[in-house]
Amino acid sequence: MSTARLEVAATPSGPALLLRPWCPGDAAALVEAYRDAALRRWTSGVVEDEAGAARWIGEQARGWEERRRFAFAVVESGPGPGPERVLGHVVLKFAEAPGASAAEVGYWTAAPARGRGVAPRALHALTDWAFAAFGGDGLTRLELLHQADNAASCRVAQKCGYALARLLPAAPPAFPLDGHVHVREYGQECAAVAR
Ligand SMILES: CC(C)(COP(=O)(O)OP(=O)(O)OC[C@H]1O[C@@H](n2cnc3c(N)ncnc32)[C@H](O)[C@@H]1OP(=O)(O)O)[C@@H](O)C(=O)NCCC(=O)NCCS
Repeated sequence: MSTARLEVAATPSGPALLLRPWCPGDAAALVEAYRDAALRRWTSGVVEDEAGAARWIGEQARGWEERRRFAFAVVESGPGPGPERVLGHVVLKFAEAPGASAAEVGYWTAAPARGRGVAPRALHALTDWAFAAFGGDGLTRLELLHQADNAASCRVAQKCGYALARLLPAAPPAFPLDGHVHVREYGQECAAVAR
């Protein structure tokens, strides 16, 4: 597998989504997304400008090549041929490479697109794809980490069937405050994402 494109149907309150690898043309949208204070607060690896965005996008491409980090831009896929709009990001991360029994997921939604179920619907699609793509290589558990005071992220975990497994003591600088570890096991059923 080199890359993947995942489609998510529209809901009454949210647009249809397309998940596809980040590409160089996304740099300006990435810079714009990272102007948001909440995104800068809750994620690592802040993007400051177009050069930083190009570097970040290059890292995602290398992640695909090396099969250790599978990052998707979440874009609005309208009915027509109009330009795509970047709404967010989801990623599957292996500590080294597929073959491990566990991997981690991450996500963010651009500020103007929040509150319409973009992150849970994208994470739901990523979760299904991850187990389908890597279950045969032994992947049985996906982990999701967030700071304990990130209530919106905790809701995304709950909506996608990632159960709270344990508390994580603070580990500065990446995790300055205590966190939650949520887990979704292979084969575990998840009701349709609440919208
Ligand atoms: C956490 C985050 C990804 C949620 O994405 P989303 O696409 O808005 O997801 P949802 O629409 O399901 O909203 C999740 C929760 O956010 C809150 N929320 C709703 N509207 C919101 C808005 N306009 N702005 C911020 N938060 C909102 C609600 O608590 C909602 O839960 P609810 O549906 O039970 O009411 C998004 O807020 C974000 O990108 N935050 C900054 C980066 C981040 O925290 N990433 C995760 C790091 S672990």
